[in-house]
Amino acid sequence: MHKLQERSLLREKADGRKATGRYHIETWGCQMNVHDSEKLSGALERDGYVRADGREDADVILLNTCSIREKAAEKMFSELGRFVPYKRRNPELVIGVCGCVAQQEGERIFRRSDVVDFVVGPRATATVTRTLERIRNGDVQARGTVDTEYRNDSIRFPYDEIRREGVGTGKAFVTVIEGCNHRCTYCVVPNTRGREICRPMTSILGEVGSLASQGVMEMEFLGQTVNAYRDEDGNTLADLLPAAAEIEGVRRLRFTTSHPAQMTDRLMDAMASASPTVCPYLHLPVQAGSSEVLKRMRRGYDREGYLRKIEGLRRRMPDMLFGTDVIVGFPGESEEQFEETLSLLNEVAYDTVYSFAYSERPATKALELDGGMPQAEKHERLRRLQEQQKTLQERRNRQWVGRDVEVLVEGRSKRNPERWTGRTPENRVVNFDGEAFPGQLKNVKLLDSSAFCLIG
Ligand code: SAH
Ligand code: SF4
Ligand code: F3S
Repeated sequence: MHKLQERSLLREKADGRKATGRYHIETWGCQMNVHDSEKLSGALERDGYVRADGREDADVILLNTCSIREKAAEKMFSELGRFVPYKRRNPELVIGVCGCVAQQEGERIFRRSDVVDFVVGPRATATVTRTLERIRNGDVQARGTVDTEYRNDSIRFPYDEIRREGVGTGKAFVTVIEGCNHRCTYCVVPNTRGREICRPMTSILGEVGSLASQGVMEMEFLGQTVNAYRDEDGNTLADLLPAAAEIEGVRRLRFTTSHPAQMTDRLMDAMASASPTVCPYLHLPVQAGSSEVLKRMRRGYDREGYLRKIEGLRRRMPDMLFGTDVIVGFPGESEEQFEETLSLLNEVAYDTVYSFAYSERPATKALELDGGMPQAEKHERLRRLQEQQKTLQERRNRQWVGRDVEVLVEGRSKRNPERWTGRTPENRVVNFDGEAFPGQLKNVKLLDSSAFCLIG
């Protein structure tokens, strides 16, 4: 028997119950995927599975995949190759592909890899445990299942069964809306996640209350277009935020990702009224600084419209910091248009920028656009943008030195395990020395800074 297998069987004996099996989940992609993996873990543990130590000792391996850019999707296929020896050693091993690649590729995944047992799209996540049960019961047809129906089970997921992985137990994600009704011309999400579906506000507030009573201080509301939230009674994010902020024990609220076109005055007012519980940081993806490019991306706003939103937010909440996503090298993007993105980044002065080279994705409108750019040119633009942004962030972060900040401690810093790491309400990462524990709210004095973090 494999050493690791032995170890987890010993652990099972120690807690005196026979596990259904050992599971291992690998997650790519956005917060929605991270949270879906938490839901999957919770569902598996409800069915008696225990967490494996790693790939080596698992009976069930789930890959929760991302298809937003080509690289992410290809990575998954190369990873599948690595599972061949595991499968040879243990023919009973079950491998499931979940997430956005599952939705997009469906049955084709079996053609590219023979280690996969089943494929389940993100809207069918709740069916994974049923498929596993069928496999355990020897149903020969269960291996080879593809389920890519747009079900709504995941939004009705039993919320007390989620295995929370956040910051000690200090932070948790809460689903409020799934799917996306936009049609940005470069994006696969509307195809992989389906149309928007919103969870009733009462159910969300119930989960928030239950988390707060368990000591969770920070909650982050999740959705691909979280500010499009509107439940059947007409409640929007502008109703949800103040109501959640009222709940005892809730110290910090965040929400991601917001669409600029749906950032209404009413929502800005609600954020201001519920601050500082609603944290002074907003991720508001702009994608490009040129109105022409934005039009070809079909974003539903232009440069001026976007800047008006930032101005409206800053007027109400002067301390608010911003983050964004940018795509460079979109088909037809001229040098001047690219420079408009550079100037917009300077004008807004973001503290966090996620920047990507445009990647062609299957079944998207942008494939029909002229003006595709060589890879090298896109990467050169990306390099210029990142260099400019790094200088700006270094300068902005230096202004923090000397201040005292409140940090929600996440755990040990990955780079330097001697240090702790956590975030301020403004979402600034702080690495610091001293005594602390995960999930603690701690006051930290800032002594130094770099482009990407503050040091205390
Ligand atoms: N729902 C969010 C973003 C979802 S995807 C929004 O509307 O802003 C996360 C980021 O990936 C996007 O903001 C975009 O910057 C990037 N992205 C999406 N499709 C891409 C593509 N085809 N090529 C490169 N980057 C892409
Ligand atoms: Fe994709 Fe646009 Fe929807 Fe965001 S809003 S998920 S970029 S289609
Ligand atoms: Fe990726 Fe799907 Fe999220 S494509 S970014 S995991 S919605």
